[in-house]
Amino acid sequence: MEALARPLLIRGFGRPSGPLGRLGGRLMALGNAATERHAVALAAPAERDVVLVVGPGPGVGLEAAAERSAHVIGVDPSDVMLAMARRRCAAQIRRGRVRLAPGTAACTGAPDASADVVISVNTLQLWPDVPAALRELHRVLRPGGRMVLSAHEKWLPLALPALADTVRAAGFGAVRAWTWEPPTRMAPTAALLSAVRP
Ligand SMILES: C[S@@+](CC[C@H](N)C(=O)[O-])C[C@H]1O[C@@H](n2cnc3c(N)ncnc32)[C@H](O)[C@@H]1O
Repeated sequence: MEALARPLLIRGFGRPSGPLGRLGGRLMALGNAATERHAVALAAPAERDVVLVVGPGPGVGLEAAAERSAHVIGVDPSDVMLAMARRRCAAQIRRGRVRLAPGTAACTGAPDASADVVISVNTLQLWPDVPAALRELHRVLRPGGRMVLSAHEKWLPLALPALADTVRAAGFGAVRAWTWEPPTRMAPTAALLSAVRP
């Protein structure tokens, strides 16, 4: 049963593709919206900050980030998600506030020290190599830049304290990890982690 369900989950939510991916994207835009917006509020980008959103999916957090910052970049490996995010953020793309590109957490395509803020919600359970992805996010953040990660607690690839240790080992400081209850019955407990590149 699990062998059958896994490919469907990947096509719907993990690396969304085809009609199932579009359905997954619509469900994520509803169910994960509160956590996406909460992560943006925690990161608190300023108008002049460069914000990198990793795995924006249908683009709810991307749109929220573009309400605060004029320089938002979203990278996602799924063409279906890039298309959904492009539709949601069409006005901000036209105004030059949002740019979208193919990419992953381990390969963002962003230059060294180019981002003030990195935000990623519900993607870290999909990173094939968590330490490699964290090294990449550390590379693209400028010194003093901040990162906010969130994932459904039940899907974390490792326990929250161990994840915090892995983030420290990648060179981050001021690491804080906690859980948060989204104010909607649709969303389960979220694990949150914030850190700063020293
Ligand atoms: C479960 S969805 C979450 C989307 C959105 N952030 C949300 O919370 O609704 C996972 C997203 O991460 C993307 N993704 C998959 N593998 C990834 C990776 N290695 N790095 C970054 N994003 C990835 C998927 O294409 C998809 O858009």
